[in-house]
Amino acid sequence: MIEELSSRGPYLKNKEFIQHGTLSVYDHCVHVATMCLKISEKLHLRVKRHALIRGALLHDFFLYDWHEPVLAHKIHGFTHPKKAMNNAVKHYRITDTEKTMIRRHMFPLTLVPPTNLEAWVLCLADKICTVQEVMEARRNGIYKERKKG
Ligand SMILES: [Fe+2]
Ligand SMILES: [Fe+2]
Repeated sequence: MIEELSSRGPYLKNKEFIQHGTLSVYDHCVHVATMCLKISEKLHLRVKRHALIRGALLHDFFLYDWHEPVLAHKIHGFTHPKKAMNNAVKHYRITDTEKTMIRRHMFPLTLVPPTNLEAWVLCLADKICTVQEVMEARRNGIYKERKKG
C-alpha cells in the first residue's frame, strides 16, 4: 500500500518531517497503522481492513515541520487533521471512511468524535503510539539534547 501511495503522490515526503523524538512522520504513520491492525485483531473488530491501513498511513499527511517556531504551528494539534485530509484528497482517491479517519483522529482535542469504527481504532492507536514514542524519546534524552542545542 505504501508503494501505491508513493508512486501516485508525495507520500515519501513524510520521511522529511519529524513527528516525535527522532521519528519521522512516515515512521509514526507506519507505527500507527501496525497498531490499528493489532487493536482490531485483538478485539476481533469487523473493520474495513484496507481503509483502516490506508487511513492510518495518511492520518498525519500534513506535509510541514510542525516544530518550526511559527505562530500557525502553535495550534498544529487542532488544525493538522483538516490539512492532512485536504492533502490526501488532493493527491489520492480516498473513501469516506478514510476521510473520517483522518479528520477525526485528534478527538477529543478536536471536538467532533469519530463516526465510524475505523476512525475510533485510529484515534486510540494514534494515542498509544504517541505515548510510546514520546516516552522512548525521553528515555533516550532526545528532548533534553534539543533544549541544549
Ligand atoms: Fe495527528
Ligand atoms: Fe499521529
